[in-house]
Amino acid sequence: MPTTHSRPLIVFDHPLIAHKMATIRDQSTAHRPFRATLSQIAGLMVFEVTRSFKTNPVNIQTPVTSATAHRLAGTVTIVPVLRAGLGMIDGILEVMPEARVGHLGLARDEETLEPIAYLNKLPADLDAGPVILVDPMLATGGSASAAISMLKDAGATDLRMICLVAAPEGVERLQNDHPEITIYAAALDDCLNERGYIVPGLGDAGDRMYGTV
Ligand code: PRP
Ligand code: URA
Repeated sequence: MPTTHSRPLIVFDHPLIAHKMATIRDQSTAHRPFRATLSQIAGLMVFEVTRSFKTNPVNIQTPVTSATAHRLAGTVTIVPVLRAGLGMIDGILEVMPEARVGHLGLARDEETLEPIAYLNKLPADLDAGPVILVDPMLATGGSASAAISMLKDAGATDLRMICLVAAPEGVERLQNDHPEITIYAAALDDCLNERGYIVPGLGDAGDRMYGTV
């Protein structure tokens, strides 16, 4: 079962997710298994992240009788933050293939650690249902905070975020900037180092995913 640390932070406490996290943290894991495992963890997390989604009753005919069943209400939109968020999309779509995918491009300036936005491709009706922001790393929280602001500006009203590794600094930043957003994390790490990397973390997620280290 996930552990709720404070209202907006839910950290997964599950042996299978912990096992897969060990693979992606390990510096000897090459980009291909890194990408595959990242995607699998995201898929496993979806089950809990979607727990609060609303459903509508529908009448159906089973082979035996008529019955009331339930389908998700609204249109789900997944929004990865490029580049690294892209690696989580396949795992999520595997279990929610009907979801739409919007894209936000944000890159962190390595000197200032401030995010620079370079792409914004979102559906026009983001308020049509739940929106899940996806980025494996929540470090200073600058990128996630900017992404959430972009989603709100685009009309999103029902938002949450999935990350794999969260730093306490990033969690605090989001709690201050967007206190209503629930953050789902596979792991809550210790701190940031002087270069803004999560410790122990897994290094640069985008570089490790695409072999550009
Ligand atoms: C990484 C990561 C987040 C950001 C987190 O992206 O995927 O978007 O850093 O850092 P923050 O919380 O301090 O803002 P990066 O900027 O390295 O871009 P990339 O995925 O293209 O490599
Ligand atoms: N971005 C990453 O990819 N890794 C970190 O540790 C921090 C920011």
